[in-house]
Amino acid sequence: MLQLVFVLAAALAAAMPLTTSLKYKIPTAMLKVMLEDDSCISPSGFEIEGFGLFAPGPNNTASPRIDFTFVDVATNINTPCHYNTSSVNVGPAGLTPRWACDNNIVSFIWEDDTVTVIEKACPQDNQPGTVGFEASGSVTPDLTCYKTDTNSTDGDGITCSSNQQEIDAPFTSLQPTPP
Ligand SMILES: *[C@@H]1O[C@H](CO)[C@@H](O)[C@H](O)[C@H]1NC(C)=O
Ligand SMILES: *[C@@H]1O[C@H](CO)[C@@H](O)[C@H](O)[C@H]1NC(C)=O
Ligand SMILES: *[C@@H]1O[C@H](CO)[C@@H](O)[C@H](O)[C@H]1NC(C)=O
Repeated sequence: MLQLVFVLAAALAAAMPLTTSLKYKIPTAMLKVMLEDDSCISPSGFEIEGFGLFAPGPNNTASPRIDFTFVDVATNINTPCHYNTSSVNVGPAGLTPRWACDNNIVSFIWEDDTVTVIEKACPQDNQPGTVGFEASGSVTPDLTCYKTDTNSTDGDGITCSSNQQEIDAPFTSLQPTPP
């Protein structure tokens, strides 16, 4: 037991230069995973690129849309993310729907004008039957929106795009993946 404490303390010390910039505390179970796998990095931050959405007008049967690119340089993930009417909720039942990005290590929630991105932490270590971890962080993009008319490609509605092409934000939480 004492040995384990020393080992964890050593792991924590080793991880310090990396973790001081983290906006959350790494759970002990996650530290153990990091200890056993040198390639396991706790996600620290991400970038949302080219965020845009379309909301069809009440008489327009076109699909609503959310599109952006998610980038995490540290974990080497760069993936398009989309929501539309054919998107499938990949989240646990009873929670706010989550939409998978093309790389399904990443998913996102759109609620109250805020996009919350969720990245599985060290998915290579998520063995069946063990609890995996996921990092999450949120961005509320500043949007410029305008009305589109029935003659436009999508028909009438509102189309919005982020004023910032690239938005950098930290992950603010690391939690066990909900069952
Ligand atoms: C939607 O269609 C209904 C019935 O045709 C019409 O009365 C209404 O004005 C339309 N609403 C909009 C926003 O175009
Ligand atoms: C609709 O969303 C799915 C993912 O949910 C994506 O694979 C597909 O490319 C999207 N369709 C369009 C037209 O963007
Ligand atoms: C849509 O297109 C039609 C035919 O080209 C045109 O008469 C009409 O004014 C257009 N409506 C709008 C809102 O631009």
